[in-house]
Amino acid sequence: MILVVGGAGYIGSHLVKELAENEEVIVLDNLSTGHREAVDSRAIFVEGDIGNEEVLQMIFKSYPISAVMHFAAYSLVGESVIDPLKYYENNVASTLKLLKAMLNNHVKNFIFSSTAAVYGIPAVEMIDEKTATSPINPYGHSKLLIEQILADFKNAYGLNYIILRYFNAAGAHESAKIGESHNPETHLIPIILQHLLGHRDKVSIFGSDYKTPDGTCIRDYIHVNDLASAHILALKALLAKEKEAEVYNLGNGHGFSVKEVLETCEKVTGLKAKVEMADRRAGDPARLVASSQKIFSELVWEAERNLEQIISDAWEWHRNQLY
Ligand SMILES: NC(=O)c1ccc[n+]([C@@H]2O[C@H](COP(=O)([O-])OP(=O)(O)OC[C@H]3O[C@@H](n4cnc5c(N)ncnc54)[C@H](O)[C@@H]3O)[C@@H](O)[C@H]2O)c1
Repeated sequence: MILVVGGAGYIGSHLVKELAENEEVIVLDNLSTGHREAVDSRAIFVEGDIGNEEVLQMIFKSYPISAVMHFAAYSLVGESVIDPLKYYENNVASTLKLLKAMLNNHVKNFIFSSTAAVYGIPAVEMIDEKTATSPINPYGHSKLLIEQILADFKNAYGLNYIILRYFNAAGAHESAKIGESHNPETHLIPIILQHLLGHRDKVSIFGSDYKTPDGTCIRDYIHVNDLASAHILALKALLAKEKEAEVYNLGNGHGFSVKEVLETCEKVTGLKAKVEMADRRAGDPARLVASSQKIFSELVWEAERNLEQIISDAWEWHRNQLY
């Protein structure tokens, strides 16, 4: 049985839906940003916090857990700058409680949701796993701290782990039954689609004088179901003992500018957006694009869904949003 913490959230709920096809799954989530309705009905659901040692003990004693997949974190960059304590408490201190409970119960396989934010503002065109890590905000720091802790726990306690550094997760399940529902929403594609549905007056583009072909920032968007399939492959490799301590980038290897994303949203929906040009935001690099060559070579994974597919699945979800 696999324990998925944060499995009621955006990415976790998509992974649970796919994982539950072949595995028994238990989800632990405090619903701070997640949604009970998003959890696949085949999974056992426990409402609780990963920092609660009693709940963790109950789960590890009651169920034969072979691996833990960890999505439970706060992930708003701006909020992490204003309230770093909230981020270090949840993303670091509570994760330590989870890791301690795993070790106490001899569970030694761990998959960790990390982020492109660990790279900060890299000076390279394509970011690979050897690119230096240098986060520029508490959110990125909190994730990198756990990455370091995992390496130390591997050496000291034999904890096996795979770290997955996602770039921009986007899209929704093809059934349109689950999708992205963050409040507040900070991600570009849902913001554009909410505007096109009439829920926002306009879309702001922050900065149009970057050194990119059209002057707007370039990011790497990856479909949430492609992320889910990468997790399944990582889990298999961990359980088969083919991998014991790895880090992989997850992106689709193509950068798209804010303007290109906007144009694709207009094309997919047939609607025209009202756009406002605004100043640059502090800490926004011009370009963040992943090389996912390593996971392709080692686990034979690559992103299958392109930007149009991402946006059309997201559009179906947003039009019928269920939670
Ligand atoms: N969305 C992205 O583009 C992106 C990119 C890179 C990394 N990530 C990482 O992926 C993970 C999932 O992101 P998401 O976008 O699905 O976020 P999300 O907020 O939708 O999901 C996080 C889930 O964790 C739960 N949670 C948070 N703290 C908890 C705690 N202490 N105990 C129990 N449950 C708790 C929330 O209720 C929520 O269901 C996060 O770790 C995030 O940092 C996300």
